[in-house]
Amino acid sequence: MLAPVAPGMERMRSIMEAQVRSDAAAVQAMTAHVGSFRGKQLRAALVLLVGKAVQARDDEHPEVAAIVELIHLATLVHDDVLDGARVRRRVACVNERWDNQIAVLLGDFLYARAFHLSTTLRSRLASQLLADTTAVLCTGEIEQAALRRDFELTQAKYEDIAAKKTGSLYSAACELGARHPSEDREDPRVARLGVEMAAFGREVGLAFQIVDDCLDVVGEEEVVGKSVGNDVEDGKLTLPVLHAFARADAATRDRMRAIYAPNAAGAATGAPRRIELLRECCDLSAGVEQAMARAHELVANARARLAPLPASPAREALDAIALFTLERRF
Ligand code: IPE
Ligand code: IPE
Ligand code: MG
Ligand code: MG
Repeated sequence: MLAPVAPGMERMRSIMEAQVRSDAAAVQAMTAHVGSFRGKQLRAALVLLVGKAVQARDDEHPEVAAIVELIHLATLVHDDVLDGARVRRRVACVNERWDNQIAVLLGDFLYARAFHLSTTLRSRLASQLLADTTAVLCTGEIEQAALRRDFELTQAKYEDIAAKKTGSLYSAACELGARHPSEDREDPRVARLGVEMAAFGREVGLAFQIVDDCLDVVGEEEVVGKSVGNDVEDGKLTLPVLHAFARADAATRDRMRAIYAPNAAGAATGAPRRIELLRECCDLSAGVEQAMARAHELVANARARLAPLPASPAREALDAIALFTLERRF
């Protein structure tokens, strides 16, 4: 999938490594730990592939891609604190290997390195867009936390939150791929491409989060590579669960509410995790199927946006990434 941008990806990785290097042994140990497993690096790939597909001037795109991946990594390090997760990218989370204090600080460090790097670019477009995006992303995480255990959550509000916390960075990656480094007097053709690619990223990112939420309820940790069942444990109502709830009878709904109630389960050591109880209590696979249908719809919309671009290996790769978000098991 990434062959058309293999050299750019290589460069992006070395820029990232150089950026997080530290003289402090403690910091170096942590950045080495989070760098030991790379993750899929999809957001970086989107910057580079969109750049290629729209034939943008792309000499600084590996830097932009590195900034996007650093911000993503910072959000993951913080997100694992919020979620009390233990495994990420097949290794222990920073909060698990060290502790929450360290993870909060390391996330801040990564975020600061990302923004430092953005100040070295030819234009301010990336710093402005990514600063705004980070604020939107945090807003999504805050709203999600504020709405825990609320079974009144609508699909529209769920999607709004998912678009903010995940769609926003996908969208910014694609928009920057199309627009960087343009600033003031931007070519109207480039501006239009930016809008279209931003929409592509937003839809792919939203589908990606829906699939992620399905994997959290039906995936296995060994395959997914990170803690599963955590959304349920934390009281996050995700699309597959909301659909399962909507289909359930009154008694089942009461049981679901009880599973999500604070300390309904898992309080005593050895008690089953909430996800185990939920799997037994309602038809999660029907909920997953319905949620996946929505993800398919979003990906179809996204793919249609690629049609006007000239045919190229990069365009094919973007199409393949959109499809991969639906098929992924990790
Ligand atoms: C995980 O993103 C966070 C979500 C938005 C669900 P990825 O699955 O892209 O994480 P890595 O970078 O590949 O580990
Ligand atoms: C994505 O949500 C979080 C971010 C945008 C950082 P999740 O909480 O579902 O991500 P995972 O499952 O922990 O990777
Ligand atoms: Mg999480
Ligand atoms: Mg998740």
